[in-house]
Amino acid sequence: MYHTITSADLNFFESLLSDRCKSDLATREAYNHDHTEDLHFTPSVVLLPQNTQEVSEIMAYCHAHNIPVTPAGARTGLSGGCLPIHGGVLLSSEKLNRIIEIDEKNAQVTTEPGVITEELQNAVKAKGLFYPPDPASKGSCFIGGNIAENSGGPKAVKYGVTKDWVLNLEVVLADGTIMWTGANVVKNATGYNLTQLVVGSEGTLAFVTKIVLKLIAHPTQTLLMLVPFYDAVQACEAVTSIFNAGITPSGLEFMEHNALRWSQTFSGDFSIEVKDTHAAHLLIEVDGFDAEQLMKECEAIMAVLETYPTDEILFAESEAQKNTLWSLRRKVGEAVKAQSVYKEEDTVVPRYALPRLLATVKAIGQKYGFESVCYGHAGDGNLHVNIIKGNLSDTFWNEELTVAIRELFTQVIEMGGTISGEHGIGLVQKPYMDLAFSETGLGLMRGIKQVFDPKGILNPGKIF
Ligand code: LAC
Ligand code: ZN
Repeated sequence: MYHTITSADLNFFESLLSDRCKSDLATREAYNHDHTEDLHFTPSVVLLPQNTQEVSEIMAYCHAHNIPVTPAGARTGLSGGCLPIHGGVLLSSEKLNRIIEIDEKNAQVTTEPGVITEELQNAVKAKGLFYPPDPASKGSCFIGGNIAENSGGPKAVKYGVTKDWVLNLEVVLADGTIMWTGANVVKNATGYNLTQLVVGSEGTLAFVTKIVLKLIAHPTQTLLMLVPFYDAVQACEAVTSIFNAGITPSGLEFMEHNALRWSQTFSGDFSIEVKDTHAAHLLIEVDGFDAEQLMKECEAIMAVLETYPTDEILFAESEAQKNTLWSLRRKVGEAVKAQSVYKEEDTVVPRYALPRLLATVKAIGQKYGFESVCYGHAGDGNLHVNIIKGNLSDTFWNEELTVAIRELFTQVIEMGGTISGEHGIGLVQKPYMDLAFSETGLGLMRGIKQVFDPKGILNPGKIF
């Protein structure tokens, strides 16, 4: 169906990009994976454009020659969204790595997609401004990848996810056309929302070359506490109670016992005492500008927590301790990966259903015979369910487990939830899309894809 890249194609790409066209095996293999499980797909060539015009010329050529193009950022994704499953071109954003303008007057930043999210955050913070979305991989992921996957992270509970901060995008369409999707304004009721259609489209509709984000004043204070629960379902129940007390934390994270333990082992940091009786922890942060106000919020949270059986609550005493706690939380994903072959599901339910979701995960695990380690963004009802392969057979892993996951997702949808909160569908969740959408919904999506990319060359084989 697709054209296989020939030396004539490579000559064209080399004439355009010179040594930023990489067709040697070592480079191609270096780009054949992301952070999703243990999946590898090697592209025929890796292209590293450094401006929009080059992206446009690459797309126009691939469009004319029917060559598949898979956009990629820092490749930290967890659903296989940037894996070039049909070979062809791996189109990397890593040389599109300039912050173009921090507009302090309007509290906006215009950036290229290959900027590391944390570096972008630090650059605007230096001006007193805040870009809140902070996926666990913020120190290595690219803002362009966050746009592609509509990434979330711990701060989403108060500040929303990536989509809530995107005002406008410069994109290159499948045929090489360059366009802006919207305007640099915080209100926009002008036609269909093309900006938000591209956000979360996982590189299947367009290649993003410039991003305009809104910003707010950076909070000056945070307070952070780690709360050990003897019962993991009760920890999930406490989450809704905190909101019902009128508090919106800036982080409300859940970690089962093994999630925190494995992260300690992985990081070699045992400065926090985790007892065998601690079935789960909540990590709760409040932020703002007024220390007294934050203390009041913590007192209100404590009053809620007193109604649950918990062990002694740890208040982070210093910036260093806050960093330790957040670092342990952020490293859970990597720690699980280091522990065993695993599959990560990114379930999300309305917040109040979180205790039921956790109980359901465990019941299904018991029924099918798998262990799971759960953690995630409890305040969003977003639970990362890590199914551990351990000693399970390959047959179980590849066949029966699929049935178990379908059963879990079916129940998630019955609870009013869906199958991915923030990791995207990409490749690995594609087989379950029929649970989340009817044929009518999927038909509309296929229609949109057809309009944007009639030849199907942009990130083929993803989402549906
Ligand atoms: C996290 C990633 C896995 O929350 O989403 O750590
Ligand atoms: Zn997460």
